Amino acid sequence: MKIGGKLKVLMLSMMLAVSSLYVMPIQFSQTAVAQEKGQSGAAFDQKVISRISMERIYEDVHYLSETIGPRVAGTEEEKFTANYIKERLLSYGYEVEVQDFSIPDLKVGHLQTDNGDEVLINIPSGSAATTEEGLTAELYDAGLGYAADFTDEAVGKIALISRGELTFQVKVENAIAAGSAGVLIYNNIDQAGPLNPSINENAPLPVGGITKVSGEALLEDVASQDGTVTLKVNAIENATSQNIIAKRTPKKGGNHDILHVSAHFDSVPFAPGASDNASGTAVALEMARVLKSYPIDKELRFAFVGAEEIGLVGSRYYVSQLTEDEIDRSLANFNMDMVGTSWENATAIYMNTVDGQANIVSETAAATAERIGTPSELVLYQRGSSDHVSFHDAGIAAVNFIRREPGTANLEPYYHTPLDTIEHISAERLKEAGDLVGASVYSLIRN
Ligand code: BES
Ligand code: ZN
Repeated sequence: MKIGGKLKVLMLSMMLAVSSLYVMPIQFSQTAVAQEKGQSGAAFDQKVISRISMERIYEDVHYLSETIGPRVAGTEEEKFTANYIKERLLSYGYEVEVQDFSIPDLKVGHLQTDNGDEVLINIPSGSAATTEEGLTAELYDAGLGYAADFTDEAVGKIALISRGELTFQVKVENAIAAGSAGVLIYNNIDQAGPLNPSINENAPLPVGGITKVSGEALLEDVASQDGTVTLKVNAIENATSQNIIAKRTPKKGGNHDILHVSAHFDSVPFAPGASDNASGTAVALEMARVLKSYPIDKELRFAFVGAEEIGLVGSRYYVSQLTEDEIDRSLANFNMDMVGTSWENATAIYMNTVDGQANIVSETAAATAERIGTPSELVLYQRGSSDHVSFHDAGIAAVNFIRREPGTANLEPYYHTPLDTIEHISAERLKEAGDLVGASVYSLIRN
C-alpha cells in the first residue's frame, strides 16, 4: 500500500466533496457530531500535533543514547533507563506499574592476545562461562566452520570461524563435534562493533563474536604463529529486566477497550541505540505527555518494555500478565521501534504486521496520514522482529512503525552498531512519527 503526497490528499477531499452530495445522511451525521463538539477531525489532530514537541523528543533521544549509552538487558544502564522513564511518567500524573521479570543469565566477555592486546567481543546468551582465569589456548583456523574444515589439530584449541554460508548454530555444533575448546566467529563484512552471533541452544563451550578486522588480525598475527589468546566469559546470574507501564482510564467507569502503545528501551551491546530504540521510547514518552490531558473513552496504556533485543522477553512478559478479559478488550497495539533515523534512503515509514495484512492500526494510521499530510510514504509490510509480535500472538491487532528504504526495506547501516548515535537521528522524522502515531491513537480514544 502506498499513500502519496499532497495531490492524493487533494483528490481525496474532492472525491469526498462530490460523494457527500450522494451520501448526505452519513456525511451529515458525522459533521453533526463534530459540530456539536465544535471540532472537526482535523481540529482533533491539531490538538495533538500542535503540542508534540520535536525538541523534547530529541532531548530524550540524546539523553538515552549519549548520557546513558548502551542499555543492554539486565545491566545497570537498562535499570537506570527504566527508572528514568518511570519518574517521567509519574511527573505527568500517570499511575505507573513496574513489572520485574527474570531473563537468561547475562554473559560478559573479554578477549586478550598473549601480548596483552584487548579485542572487543560479544557473547551470545547461549555461550558457556569460563573459569575466572579464562580459557587460554591456541587458535585454529576453521574457515567457514564446515565439518570438513576441522582436523585433529582443532582439538583443545579455540576455533576461529568466519561468518557466512552456515548459521552460527551449525558452526558452533561443528566445532563442538571436532573437540574445540571454544569458538570465536568473526564478521565477513565491515561493521562497527563486534559481531553478535546469536545461537539458539546452550553450548558446552564459550562462544564469542568479533569484528572482521579483529578476526583477520588474529588469523595473521596469532593463529599463523601458534600464539595463544585468553577468552574469559563471566555469567551474571539471576539477571532481571523490567517493564514500565503507565495507564489512563476514562472518567466514566465500565469495561473499556484498551489501546497499547509500546516501545523497547533496551539496546544491543556496544550500541548507544539512538535509533534502536531511544527513538521509539522518546516518541512514546512525548505522546504520554500530550495525551494525558484530553478526555478519552478508551483505556490508554503505555508499555515501555525491556529485554526486547534478547528475544522480545519484556513484551512477552507484559502480554502474559494481561487477564483474558483484558486481552478481549485489547483493540490495538501501536509499537514504535526505530522511527528517527536520518539515513537518507529511509524515506518511508513501514507499518510491519506479522501476517502482512492491514488491521485497525495500519488503517487508522493510513487515514491519519491522509488527514494530516504525513510527508513520508507509508508502506504496509510483513515482518516480525519487534514487540508487535507478542501482541499479535495474543490476537491483538498490532503494527510496528519503523523507518526503512522503500522497495528494498533496508534498515540504516548503523543498525546494531556503535554508530547508532544521535548524529544519525533526524529531529524532523521523530516529530513526524510522533504526529502520525499520536494523532492516530487520539483518533481512536477521544470521546
Ligand atoms: N529494532 C529492531 C527491529 C527490527 C525489525 C529489526 C525488523 C529488523 C527487522 C529490533 O530491536 C531487533 O533488532 N530485532 C531483532 C529480533 C529480536 C527478536 C531479537 C532482529 O531483527 O534481529
Ligand atoms: Zn534491535
